[in-house]
Amino acid sequence: MKNKNAVAKHMLHGGDYNPDQWIDNPEILEEDLKFMKLAHTNAFSIGIFSWAALEPEEGRFEFEWLDNIMNNIATNGAKVALATPSGARPAWMSHKYPEVLRTNERREKMLHGGRHNHCLTSPVYREKVVVMNRKLAERYRNHPALMMWHVSNEYSGECHCPTCQQAFRNWLKEKYATLEALNLAWWGPFWSHTITNWEQIESPSPIGENMVHGLNLDWRRFVTDQTIDFYENEIIPLRELTPNIPVTTNFMADTNDLIPFQALDYSKFSKHVDILSWDCYPAWHNDWETTANLAMKVGFINDLYRSLKQQSFLILECTPSGVNWHPVNKTKRPGMHLLSSMQFLAHGSDSVMYFQWRKSRGSSEKFHGAVIDHDRNPNNRVFKEVAEVGKNLEKLSDIVGTMPDSKVAILYDWESNWALNDAQGFGLESKQYPQTLQQHYKAFWEKDIPVDVITKEQDFSKYKLLVVPMLYLMSKSLMKRFQEFANNGGTLVMTYLSGLVDEHDLTYTGGWPKKLQELFSINVLETDTYYPKDTNAVKYFGKTYNAKDYATILETSQQVDSLGTYQQEFYQGSPAVTKNIFGKGTTYFIGARLEDNFHKDFYQNVLDELQIVPPFAIKHDKGVSIQVREDEQYKYVFIMNFTENSQKVFLEQEARDIIADESVSGEIILNAYGVKIVKTKKDTRMGR
Ligand code: GAL
Repeated sequence: MKNKNAVAKHMLHGGDYNPDQWIDNPEILEEDLKFMKLAHTNAFSIGIFSWAALEPEEGRFEFEWLDNIMNNIATNGAKVALATPSGARPAWMSHKYPEVLRTNERREKMLHGGRHNHCLTSPVYREKVVVMNRKLAERYRNHPALMMWHVSNEYSGECHCPTCQQAFRNWLKEKYATLEALNLAWWGPFWSHTITNWEQIESPSPIGENMVHGLNLDWRRFVTDQTIDFYENEIIPLRELTPNIPVTTNFMADTNDLIPFQALDYSKFSKHVDILSWDCYPAWHNDWETTANLAMKVGFINDLYRSLKQQSFLILECTPSGVNWHPVNKTKRPGMHLLSSMQFLAHGSDSVMYFQWRKSRGSSEKFHGAVIDHDRNPNNRVFKEVAEVGKNLEKLSDIVGTMPDSKVAILYDWESNWALNDAQGFGLESKQYPQTLQQHYKAFWEKDIPVDVITKEQDFSKYKLLVVPMLYLMSKSLMKRFQEFANNGGTLVMTYLSGLVDEHDLTYTGGWPKKLQELFSINVLETDTYYPKDTNAVKYFGKTYNAKDYATILETSQQVDSLGTYQQEFYQGSPAVTKNIFGKGTTYFIGARLEDNFHKDFYQNVLDELQIVPPFAIKHDKGVSIQVREDEQYKYVFIMNFTENSQKVFLEQEARDIIADESVSGEIILNAYGVKIVKTKKDTRMGR
């Protein structure tokens, strides 16, 4: 059950260290080393944006400063995630080789500036990156501090220059082989969009083509593939010279609202990294949701990123206080830093790392939270809370590499999300695919049931329950895999807006796909879309629940149990929630977007039927989250209070508080934002 690939034997604590901002200031660099110990840190990412310092002029490399930093870190007893600097390049390069600059979708060539803005295809840039990375690998391959490669930084964006257009056309040729196949997939005859020569193809653009859904979908796939290709090119010298050093690149989330990053398909990208790592910046204490609701969303995304590789992961960046890029940048309240850090661990992280170690003096991130503030005071509140996290992490080494044991999976799909967002139809604002998945996830989160958030190419057979909300894009082969899953005894839940288009974003003809009709013994006749003020209600086992946004009108065959019926509209009395027996398994279809209370009751019934219980029984009120990681012998239980009040919780079984090193059982009190981590030997099976 342990992740054999864990990068270290202990939890990592540290973060992005940008010493090149302070290179002329030895006093600061010395202070850093002293404060690193005070903060109980042991790992730093170095050189992420250091290209200008490493190669100040073309072909003139300066590594001495980095040698000193690496040596000092090693002497201080810490390790380094050494970065490749491709996330930002020096001005001389853009000036001399303008082809490295990105072209946007309006076909405007960008000027030098900012970061994360290179052409993904440019041969010159690719070559420069490989030269640089080879030099780094040659120089530091045997350095005692080298623990991991931090490749580039938060890959994102796209380039529409002529070189990228050509690469896109080649990618399409490889995929479709003939223009007939391409025109069929892109539904060419619509609006006379038939392509008669590969050279006519252009990437989607607001000043050109953006109505061909097949093209839009393929472009997104291409951008992911091209980003991975760029990355694979970057790591050639690293693999060659340091085959035993793990490679990662930091993934991210989208927006303030903490949904999975939308622009790149991480299910593909994750296959190319040795360890998955990501940067997590929730807007704690915001004014639009409860702390518990945000914690649930943090749980969801961490469960997704952990499940991508089915192994523990790393948080490479978070903030000890506030960020600088939310609309409002509130600082974490006392206690929240420890709680939110432990929550990362609870969902499978083996680290808590920060952006950044020391606050910059200038430019756009000078007010972004950091471990060392401008006051340079290791006794300020933020520094002390960081040190407290460090002390806790030192006691949690046994948890490194352990995993939750999930019997439930929810399926997230990047491609389906892209296609659904592109669909002109339904409600402009109400599709909300990631948010809908979070709503389903919430029911399990509140019941302390561990969940893997998996993607479509993963193995379904290890789960008892597979929840598939709003899977709009579905290939026939995937439908077949859902059939196999149910046939072999699995329980499958699917919802409205599922299975409407195939892998080319072409609709199925002749009704809802036959394989889905067989699986659920229903047919989808219509999907009704509501205005925001419209509602319906669904009666399910005697209780009535509100429905909004979407309602599917269903036709059911005789063998189906109609568990819930619509209470209003011209389809009043018709089935809204159905249950079917398929082979050795059971399939449920939820036809409408229903309120949280429905999910709570519905999933409780399903869990009861499947005899799935929390891995460790604790009675508690709303807002307390219990997550469990396990190895062969122990369960490590995280008890987290995401409320502003103290909370009583009740442990039905004795356990050992790892931090306080004492045994606990029965009632315990958690302060506001309090957290306890206990462990228990695995022989007794407790339920609730
Ligand atoms: C990350 C980025 C860091 C820093 C941080 C600020 O997205 O990787 O370099 O900018 O955001 O929150």
